[in-house]
Amino acid sequence: MSETGKDFSIRQADPKDADALAQLGARTFDETFGHLYSTENLESFQRENHDRQVYDRLLASDDCHVLVAEAPDGAMAGYAVAGPCGLPVDDPGPNDIEIKRLYVDRPYQNAGLGKALLEPLLEWCEARAPSGLYLSVYAHNHGAQRLYRRYGFDKVKEYEFLVGEHRDPEFIFRKKMEG
Ligand SMILES: CC(C)(COP(=O)(O)OP(=O)(O)OC[C@H]1O[C@@H](n2cnc3c(N)ncnc32)[C@H](O)[C@@H]1OP(=O)(O)O)[C@@H](O)C(=O)NCCC(=O)NCCS
Repeated sequence: MSETGKDFSIRQADPKDADALAQLGARTFDETFGHLYSTENLESFQRENHDRQVYDRLLASDDCHVLVAEAPDGAMAGYAVAGPCGLPVDDPGPNDIEIKRLYVDRPYQNAGLGKALLEPLLEWCEARAPSGLYLSVYAHNHGAQRLYRRYGFDKVKEYEFLVGEHRDPEFIFRKKMEG
């Protein structure tokens, strides 16, 4: 457990967090990006990515790391996930890792929680000596891109990300490794 500047705590998720993770994930995606898609495409994406069972599988996986940020009243305020890279990178390595999710619930955004989740997640990733450390970000999500660039990530590829049948312009970012 570590405290952020605002009395939030960061802890590793456990299996009983699956429902809250699914709800926070679906709500944050909808609030941030939902206006871009038809109802049908959005529902299809949410079923595939923010269903309770998706989180059950994530939490059961030894290869994934899930951190949650908890408000002083116990509410889940954000979460972050890393695990084996599933992105279409050009030069895949044997131990590529991907930051798969970084979501902060809207009322808590812009208060430092994104950074408070990202920093220990990056420590976990880097301790595994990844051949490459990647993430995927919507081409027009400039705020998130600024955050990732501050931690040494930079764009290496453009591709299309499917939301249902809708194709989004998306960037793959790779972290520059020291040494
Ligand atoms: C991106 C996100 C995780 C950042 O967490 P946060 O707690 O708001 O961020 P912090 O307070 O730790 O750091 C602030 C930085 O985050 C980024 N940021 C802040 N608000 C943001 C927003 N609404 N959307 C995207 N990025 C944002 C900016 O880089 C900001 O710094 P800057 O304004 O000085 O450039 C959070 O805003 C979020 O969950 N947004 C919606 C979902 C999302 O876009 N996730 C990333 C998908 S790749």
